[in-house]
Amino acid sequence: MSQDDLKRAVAQAAIEYVPEGCIVGVGTGSTANFFIDELGKIKHKIRGAVASSEASALRLQGHGIEVLSLNDAGYLQVYVDGADEITAHMHMVKGGGGALTREKIVAGASARFICLCDASKLVDVLGKFPLPIEVIPMAQASVSRQLAALGGQPVLREGFITDNGNLIIDVHGLKIANPVELESALDHIAGVVTNGLFARRPADVLLLGTPDGVKTMTA
Ligand code: A5P
Repeated sequence: MSQDDLKRAVAQAAIEYVPEGCIVGVGTGSTANFFIDELGKIKHKIRGAVASSEASALRLQGHGIEVLSLNDAGYLQVYVDGADEITAHMHMVKGGGGALTREKIVAGASARFICLCDASKLVDVLGKFPLPIEVIPMAQASVSRQLAALGGQPVLREGFITDNGNLIIDVHGLKIANPVELESALDHIAGVVTNGLFARRPADVLLLGTPDGVKTMTA
């Protein structure tokens, strides 16, 4: 079974979590793309979607799904997205695709977060995947110095600009023992827009793609 097969399987399973007639919060990335394709098959059963990136908005519209702004949509019943790493506590690292800020906004405005991952992303401790941090461009050097002081190795994501016009610093070498605490600490660095730890608002359900089928996990 290929990784794409596992992603497709969790995307299909996620459709069960989409209430009829709702506006769906939609994440970003290759797994979220499979979910968007599944959503296209049931588009007559939903009112529309709120996208966490320009890329996801385009893909949704390509399926004929109406994309609403979060301001117009209001509080959402469900948000569906992938992750780069996740623990059994449903704490995640996200932002490998650079869409972390809008993802955190839409996830925070949703009643339920359904996370879709293949089994390789379930870890005991977060941090092997470099932690993405979105920063205001003028703060890149000063934020990098402060990240280094926290024990990480900050690397600017070359040639990448977020949908919000900012930069991404990927922090390598962190062993994240307390994700809730670190998420708050990083948010307090001036110039940080968002960090890729999703721990204060963890996922509610993890649909994990394994060769033996889709496993459903909750914290
Ligand atoms: C996008 O910014 C990310 O948070 C993605 O949700 C995450 O990187 C998972 O992406 P894949 O499904 O492509 O692995």
